[in-house]
Order: sequence, then structure tokens, then C-alpha cells
Amino acid sequence: MKKVIVFGSLNMDLTIEADRVPYGGETLPGRNFLSNPGGKGANQAVAVSKAGVRTHLVGSVGADVFGDLLLARVASYGVQCDEVILREGVGTGIAMICRVDGDNRILLSAGANHSLSAADVKEALDRLAEPGDVFLTQMECDYATTCAAIQDAHGRGMYVVVNVAPPRDLPQDVWSCIDLVCVNETECAAICGVLPEDDGTLRQALDLLIKRGVGCAVVTLGAGGSAAREGTRLYRAPAARVNAVDTTASGDTYLGVLCAAYVNGMPMEDAMRRASAAAGITASRVGAQRAIPTAAEVDAFMREA
Ligand code: RIB
Repeated sequence: MKKVIVFGSLNMDLTIEADRVPYGGETLPGRNFLSNPGGKGANQAVAVSKAGVRTHLVGSVGADVFGDLLLARVASYGVQCDEVILREGVGTGIAMICRVDGDNRILLSAGANHSLSAADVKEALDRLAEPGDVFLTQMECDYATTCAAIQDAHGRGMYVVVNVAPPRDLPQDVWSCIDLVCVNETECAAICGVLPEDDGTLRQALDLLIKRGVGCAVVTLGAGGSAAREGTRLYRAPAARVNAVDTTASGDTYLGVLCAAYVNGMPMEDAMRRASAAAGITASRVGAQRAIPTAAEVDAFMREA
């Protein structure tokens, strides 16, 4: 059975709810403080694992109390963490999150996430990877390491999925190693200069992403659902109808569930619908990894919907 290897970040999320974002020089009272395990890489790994697919995480945390806690929590969701390096002398990644009206603003301190070299990831893949496995990554680890890892995974015959978040443009010889790229509206605008706000701009954005050389381009649109282009085929999936209270990790859930569905051989449109449902459930709960639903929860939600 194929597996998913996630190379990515682990962060401790420190999150506060507020009526608005504070202005410069202002101290704004907030409420409902929460510290909980997050990081796009770890969240996506947890989403794959909760979807029932074997998952390995390649990453790094600092040798501190947050690092210990993150590792224990991610492992408790069934993610294999043997390739997560505990780094001395550097702090664990931290995300300060301000939750406003169910949406979030995130400030990141990368810490140990930036300590992994291309050689570290290569060694981990030497031990784990088999042709046909899925390689899933994002952009919260070191840029050069991430680019090299994408090329390395492609060279091993893995199915390479990249969530270009936070958005960074990539060299052409890296784009052409990507089988599936996934971005949200703002990441899409930052990368290809087109904000997908209607059918016309959405098609234009998908075309531009495909022209970079990727096999399949997926754009998530919040309440607008998601859209994809694979070759000449276009797919749409509606968003799940939920009361969103915290969108943290909702995009990560979409990615993880999409990869799990790929491993299970699910057709693209069904996979997108399932990923949307799972992402909606995550947005209806507070927190990151703890908000991500299991396969059984997604099944029940889709039956009711
Ligand atoms: O995608 C959500 C994640 O982004 C949060 O868990 C936070 O850690 C940031 O990395």
C-alpha cells in the first residue's frame, strides 16, 4: 500500500480571539487563549493519518518543552515521527494567531523548521521513500531545502504535491517536478498575479498554474469551494455548509484528505468533495490538529449533507 511522506513544519500555535487586529502601538484586549499543536506540515500529516493512510513526517523541532509536546501529540494521531529531528540550540517553530470573525492572521517564527538541510531530507527519503508514494510539502521550511526536496522526490518517482503556502514563486525546474499544486485565493494571486474572484479569473489562474509545468492545479476558494484543472479537464467542488468558528488548519485538512484520497484511488472530483467536507468540519471547530476530523466523521458528515 502506498504511503504519504510529509516534509514540513511543526509549530506551537498560540492563538487569541479578538474583535479586530490591533493597530501599531495599541494593546487590544482579547479572549479565549489557546495553545495547541500546529504547523502546516504537521497539520497536513495529521489530516492524512486521520483519513486512515500511513503517514510519515520529516521535520524538526527544538529541544525544548514545545518540541516534546508537538512530537508527542502528532505521534498520538498515528503519524510516524522517526524522521523528526530534535535540534539543540534552536527554538521550536511558533505561530502567533489572531482569530477575528472566524478567520485568522498568523505571525510565524520558523525556528527549527529552517534548520533542515537538503541532505537531511534526502537521508530521510533514502530510508522511507518508494516509487509511487506521495510526497507532500509546503513552504514553511527553508526555501532551498524545500526546492531540493521537491526535485529529489520527483527523481524517486514519487507523486509530488506542493501547497505553496506561504506563497513563494519557484524556479521553473522545480515547478516541472510537481504533480499537483494547491493554493488558496490569496496565495494564487501572489504567485500568478490573478485573484480568482469569478469564473473568468479562476480559469485564467488555473491556466497560468498549469503553464508552469505542473500536472494538476487546485485552487481553494473558501466559501466558494475549490476548483482544479488537470490537463484539459476542469473540476469544481462546493464548500461544505458549516458555521466557521476558526479556519486554522482547514486548508491543511483539504490537502491531507486530498492526498489520502489519491492513495485510495479516488477520482479527482470525489476527492475534492471529500476534502472540502473535511476542511469544513475543521473550520467549524477551534484549534488546528485537534479540529481535523477522522475518516468516520467525514463519512457521517457527507451522509447527512
Ligand atoms: O495552516 C495553519 C498553520 O499555519 C497553523 O497551524 C500555524 O502553525 C501556521 O503554520
